[in-house]
Amino acid sequence: MTSLVHATVPVGENVRLARDTYRIRLDCPDLARAIRPGQFLMVRLPGSTDPLLGRPFALYDTILDGTGQPAGVDVVYLVVGKLTGLLKEVRASESVTVWGPLGNGFPDLPPLEQVGLVAGGIGQTPFLAHIRELLGGRGYGGRPAQQTAQRVSLFYGVRTADLAAGVDDFRAAGADVHLASDDGSVGFRGFVTQRLQQHVPRPAHLVGCGPEPMLKALAELACEWGVPCHLSLETPMACGLGVCFSCVTKVRTAAGWDYRRVCVDGPVFDVQALCW
Ligand SMILES: Cc1cc2nc3c(=O)[nH]c(=O)nc-3n(C[C@H](O)[C@H](O)[C@H](O)COP(=O)(O)OP(=O)(O)OC[C@H]3O[C@@H](n4cnc5c(N)ncnc54)[C@H](O)[C@@H]3O)c2cc1C
Ligand code: FES
Repeated sequence: MTSLVHATVPVGENVRLARDTYRIRLDCPDLARAIRPGQFLMVRLPGSTDPLLGRPFALYDTILDGTGQPAGVDVVYLVVGKLTGLLKEVRASESVTVWGPLGNGFPDLPPLEQVGLVAGGIGQTPFLAHIRELLGGRGYGGRPAQQTAQRVSLFYGVRTADLAAGVDDFRAAGADVHLASDDGSVGFRGFVTQRLQQHVPRPAHLVGCGPEPMLKALAELACEWGVPCHLSLETPMACGLGVCFSCVTKVRTAAGWDYRRVCVDGPVFDVQALCW
């Protein structure tokens, strides 16, 4: 089992990627060595009690030093409220407090022809590292790089063009990127799941992250197509450690249904397990 890193770490940089969207680079080799795609970390500002609780953020990618060793972690965040509003003001060489790696991460997949990743809103953030991992560009969490997908297609939906963040990163990692926007200002005009429906051939495995209506639409599509699908949930969390039960979601059990904590049993769930 991976041990938890809890540390106050220096910020390498904190740069704007898109409207209200920033990438913060954290110098934390211990966390960078341990964390895997689909896992997350909690972030808090040191020396402040407002907000009191940390906030969860997905691993965007790990940063390697000159010798190829993991040295830092990138997080990409959308400014929506208290913590993210303060985080965007943090300067290089100032510090933030982090704990992680947390959660289960994306499952290991068998060799596949094509994996489809489906993101809405800020739900693209867990997918950069996952693309590299699936295409064998990089190993994470101490594992060697190993290619499992011949092709990775990212279907990424935003409300409007200037909210799209990281598109060049996803392309550079080797994914074909298919954009969709509500207002037609970039890519397909309409929902990202409608863009996915047009895609030929159908991916052999789907992974989704984004707002609940998008995840539900993706779950229905996966069910109709009979394609395996995993969803990464963005349920609000207080501790991230399995202690407070603020993050539960309903899952199917032999007896009917029960609650599971998204922070320890997820955030990634097989779509078949979730009760909507
Ligand atoms: C596992 C996981 C990974 C995540 N990864 C990322 C990421 O990589 N990048 C990113 O920008 N965000 C990510 N999020 C969402 C992020 O945690 C929230 O946006 C963040 O907590 C907001 O904090 P805040 O203090 O700025 O906002 P607050 O002041 O706490 O809240 C502002 C508003 O946002 C709403 N809100 C807070 N959290 C959520 C949520 N999870 N879903 C929907 N509405 C919410 C509140 O209800 C409120 O209306 C992730 C969430 C989870 C659970
Ligand atoms: S966030 Fe506390 S139990 Fe999940």
